[in-house]
Amino acid sequence: MTLQTKDFEAKSPEELLRWSMDQYGDKAGLASSFGMEDMVLIDMIAKLNGPLTIFTLDTGRLHEETYELMDRVRSKYGLEIKTYFPDRNKVENLVREKGFFSFRESVDNRKECCYIRKVEPLNRALGELKAWITGLRRSQGVTRTDIPKVLEDADHPPLIKINPLAEWSEEQVMNYIIENNVPINILHKRNYPSIGCAPCTRPVEHGEDIRAGRWWWENPEHKECGLHNRPAH
Ligand code: ADX
Ligand code: SF4
Repeated sequence: MTLQTKDFEAKSPEELLRWSMDQYGDKAGLASSFGMEDMVLIDMIAKLNGPLTIFTLDTGRLHEETYELMDRVRSKYGLEIKTYFPDRNKVENLVREKGFFSFRESVDNRKECCYIRKVEPLNRALGELKAWITGLRRSQGVTRTDIPKVLEDADHPPLIKINPLAEWSEEQVMNYIIENNVPINILHKRNYPSIGCAPCTRPVEHGEDIRAGRWWWENPEHKECGLHNRPAH
């Protein structure tokens, strides 16, 4: 199938989710870290009531509050969440060689940890899919300003990547959550707008960028963990 990716730009998030369900069934999967955007998408998916996989990458370093939210999603929506863990041998070797906080020492070490705990499990998850859906938004930071709503994922061919909320603002996400009574991670109420692994996420100060608390010791251009690279134009 040749995608005319610009044709998708006028579609709403629900239309894009419905399209993915019709086109790929359960071979389309939402990658969820249970952040606010992912919770909006989960709520929409539950309401559309179609076949769509939901998966998460459990790095082994998540906050307790994130696990609590995962169980709330299971009970509120009755949806199955496919969980992928990192390769045991790779984690054991990393920790034996470099300890539990190697990611603080350099960007390379941080990317190594993200590769072992997120990227390799993501590749395994994507191996079972034809399309994946994310909660990425353009206004989330300098690395995301030009993401399309639908693209051929050059990093994971032949998969299609779908970003239904690409053009949504933070306010639109919040409004949807309030209007639809969507459960969210309790950490958001403690000034964590963006949540990743516990040792690599801190609360933000008033006026700081929403991703300022992620890998806060690094420069903004480095703030991607390898799950999402810049799209080709
Ligand atoms: S990250 O790359 O910096 O960690 P971010 O937290 O902004 O990403 O999330 C962007 C999108 O990446 C999420 O909406 C979700 O689709 C996907 N994602 C991030 N972390 C995970 C995870 N642990 N499991 C599954 N999907 C994830
Ligand atoms: Fe490792 Fe931190 Fe990346 Fe999580 S966010 S995988 S702990 S470097």
